[in-house]
Amino acid sequence: MTYELIVRSVRLSPTQDRPGPLMDVAIDGGVITAIRPAGELAAGGATELSGEGRLCSIPFVDPHVHLDAVLTVGDPHHNESGTLIEGIQTWAERKKTLTLEDVKRRAREAIFWEVAQGTGLIRSHVDVCDPTLVALRALLELRDELADVVELRLIAFPQDGVLCFPDGEALMREAMRLGCDLIGGIPHYEWTREDGIAEVQFLFDLARETGAGIDLHCDETDDEQSRFLEHVAARTMRDGMQGRVVAGHTTAMGSYNDAYSFKLLQILRRAGVTIVANPLDNIVLQGRFDTYPKRRGMTRVKELDRIGVNVVCGHDSIMDPWYPLGRGSMLDALSMLVHVAQMTGRPELFSAFSMITGNAARASDAPADLREGGPANLVVLDCEDEAEAIRLRPSCRWVVRRGRVVAETPSLAPVVRRGSGETVPVTFTRSPGGAD
Ligand code: FE2
Repeated sequence: MTYELIVRSVRLSPTQDRPGPLMDVAIDGGVITAIRPAGELAAGGATELSGEGRLCSIPFVDPHVHLDAVLTVGDPHHNESGTLIEGIQTWAERKKTLTLEDVKRRAREAIFWEVAQGTGLIRSHVDVCDPTLVALRALLELRDELADVVELRLIAFPQDGVLCFPDGEALMREAMRLGCDLIGGIPHYEWTREDGIAEVQFLFDLARETGAGIDLHCDETDDEQSRFLEHVAARTMRDGMQGRVVAGHTTAMGSYNDAYSFKLLQILRRAGVTIVANPLDNIVLQGRFDTYPKRRGMTRVKELDRIGVNVVCGHDSIMDPWYPLGRGSMLDALSMLVHVAQMTGRPELFSAFSMITGNAARASDAPADLREGGPANLVVLDCEDEAEAIRLRPSCRWVVRRGRVVAETPSLAPVVRRGSGETVPVTFTRSPGGAD
């Protein structure tokens, strides 16, 4: 028996108590054809990769990023205050100069950063508050152009509102007609609470018309009066859209009182709404009107996860007017999440990993695990388990898509050179201890 590719000696299912057995994964025709204990598969891969005990997982999913704005930081000027409002103003200026090639060049570069670091599926919002829809046209072209290395899904995002933006409803309809995969929204940004509720109703009406799912920005504010998420959950249940609605940011939940949060968590679970936390942006953008105590401004990640709501983690921004940092690493985003949400308990570190893998894949109707007969999409990380992945944020030794290696990074081998001439290899993993 010969295979196109065999990935040998990888750990597929480590737990917090044990590293898990070493397994070999055989791939043919873009499909995983066999998963066997290491050594059982005879040599016979056209290509063989030696995992040497590394963690192997489905590729990361970035469920929430804004590819039309990536890599624009400093153009036309930097966000001097670092605030959300100056970010929106800066983007409004930059948006006037967008061209097809400009958007494609920046988005392509950021996608390569994400792919090289293990991301296989990206859900990108694209600002459709632009009569020319140039950013959308650019990303639609890129979705096809880069299908060999990544699956890109596009969300029609009304950055400046639907009701409070001229022709907002028509632009949303046109974006869906041109080929957007999902319907976005921003109800908390409308001029009035009533307009925000009307926007939510419009989004669900559009979902009925088009058959598309919904992935909206919702309650991204520290205002505890911003409560559009309950309308989203209610309409999700009334329209039978359980499992097809995603709400991003929902940072107001960090400011709701506990009694209201208790009720909201129950209906979110019943509605099967997925919540996206975007900790990189929100830890720097929220709490800006506070002196001290200063709120963290993140949705209730740990409580949502505990009650059984599907919670995922997005990168959101990569060097744009809202967040000048970022390198497209989902492990960077997840590291920030476990810090801000205080999910550093040992079982919490392991469950958090699914927020950029299994949970995020489920929210996109993509395979949530590696199995025989499933698509040969996987990453091999330079670490042994999920907790180490979050601690080390290691490089991806290999990224495989449809059975083809689409990215690879050589293992790092730093050393310290002592004055004595001794060279000490540094691995960032604890050496086996013992009493001195
Ligand atoms: Fe966002």
